[in-house]
Amino acid sequence: MLQFLLKTAFLLSFVILIKADTPANCTYEDIRGFWVFHEGPRGNDKAINCSEKINITSAYYVRLEFPNTALDLDGNVGFWTIIYNQGFEVVINNRKYFAFSYYTEKGREVTSFCQHTFWGWSHGTGVNPSDWSCYIGAKVDEDQKPKVHQTLSENLLTAQQMLENRLYQTDKDHIEKINSIQSSWTATHYDFLNEMKISDLIKMAGGKKSNIISRPKPSPIDKETQILASKLPDEFDWRNVSGVNYISPIRNQGSCGSCYAFASMAMNEARLRIKSLNTEQTIFSPQDIVECSEYSQGCDGGFPYLISGKYAEDFGLVEESCNPYKGRDGKCSTDKSCKRRYSTKYHYVGGFYGACNEALMKIELARNGPLVVGFQVYDDFLSYRGGIYHHTGARDLTNFKWNPFEETNHAVLLVGYGTDKATGQDYWIVKNSWGTGWGEKGYFRIRRGNDECAIGSLAVGSDIVV
Ligand SMILES: *[C@@H]1O[C@H](CO)[C@@H](O)[C@H](O)[C@H]1NC(C)=O
Ligand SMILES: *[C@@H]1O[C@H](CO)[C@@H](O)[C@H](O)[C@H]1NC(C)=O
Ligand SMILES: *[C@@H]1O[C@H](CO)[C@@H](O)[C@H](O)[C@H]1NC(C)=O
Ligand SMILES: *[C@@H]1O[C@H](CO)[C@@H](O)[C@H](O)[C@H]1NC(C)=O
Repeated sequence: MLQFLLKTAFLLSFVILIKADTPANCTYEDIRGFWVFHEGPRGNDKAINCSEKINITSAYYVRLEFPNTALDLDGNVGFWTIIYNQGFEVVINNRKYFAFSYYTEKGREVTSFCQHTFWGWSHGTGVNPSDWSCYIGAKVDEDQKPKVHQTLSENLLTAQQMLENRLYQTDKDHIEKINSIQSSWTATHYDFLNEMKISDLIKMAGGKKSNIISRPKPSPIDKETQILASKLPDEFDWRNVSGVNYISPIRNQGSCGSCYAFASMAMNEARLRIKSLNTEQTIFSPQDIVECSEYSQGCDGGFPYLISGKYAEDFGLVEESCNPYKGRDGKCSTDKSCKRRYSTKYHYVGGFYGACNEALMKIELARNGPLVVGFQVYDDFLSYRGGIYHHTGARDLTNFKWNPFEETNHAVLLVGYGTDKATGQDYWIVKNSWGTGWGEKGYFRIRRGNDECAIGSLAVGSDIVV
């Protein structure tokens, strides 16, 4: 009975509390997301009246993330909270923002518009807040151009574009974290990354158009394949086969999403060297692919199967001098008089899409030459300096600087494999196209045998015609 009374009293107080509030009823999930705060002039005191008509003078973009992290476009980190179901407060960059969630009332009919706020109050943080202004918030769809209240002359990009237009910022905490939680590989800071926009980094690592939403799983290894693979040498490296190097020099794709073209050219270059016993050391033109191939999307990305194989078979490849690399899209400007070089028998390792596994890759690599592979690039990979890479997930462990790097599918060239003497860890040796200053003189090693970053799911080979 007592319990019942207490419960009733509690419920009553709850009802009364609700009645004292605004009719807005907005949940955490309604508020979480990307917001633009349109702000009026600053420099007022607390007597400011935010119900009067305010002229908007600036826009401030802030992302409210789980559980209470607020982030702005300059990389400032703050926090936020909803206040019951009434509105939310954000504290960031030495300012506080509070506004009630928007609603309308028609007679007894109440509608909440949780994607908008009423005019609210913004001011400097501190015991005696100063520099007051009024603002009004609107939630922004990350894929759409933000809706703007009143007139605000601004070149409107989508929210995601605005994020990606920022320069990458070296994150010392992230690098330290990677190096402290594992000893298989080391991370370092690269100056060149800080000179790039995040959108350029996404291109460099594969580009949006080459991303693979659902990858095939590696196919099971059958007994016969297992036996064949086990008969191969424990170590193999096309850069040094009995003292001979069959791999062309490392190149740099820059901020164009042309990795698929570089990896495809690199495979054909290496296989030509192997087949000709190093008498033909041609460098092929990735710019010809970027500008002239209709099987790919230029600097926005493409798929190695269609370039190292199909384009090379149908249209052929030209030497670098026929269309030197520019690292940007453009009209096809390849010298028409150049001789074209063809390749044939292009295939996914295993015979078809989804039939690949690491044992088959090892066999084809050692028998026929380097293979183009794709793998998932996470942000920790960008700062790889050396060792045997595996994805650390270090970013997820605490709050780091905000580089909204999207995972991409990056095409590279598999040139060898081995096993670490000290740890027994198997690895692949891979040629990247980010210059010689990155990684192990332009190469990296990555875990072998567990489909690390999906490297064992899609490998492509082809046969250059000599
Ligand atoms: C608010 O909305 C939630 C569901 O979104 C509902 O369960 C709850 O009863 C509502 N509260 C009020 C006070 O209307
Ligand atoms: C603020 O401005 C509104 C609209 O002009 C007005 O109705 C209201 O009384 C003002 N409030 C104060 C405290 O001056
Ligand atoms: C808002 O801007 C208009 C046009 O520029 C101006 O006439 C008006 O005085 C401004 N109002 C306030 C409150 O500053
Ligand atoms: C190539 O490999 C051999 C034996 O594994 C080694 O002695 C030699 O130093 C290597 N050459 C180069 C250039 O790395």
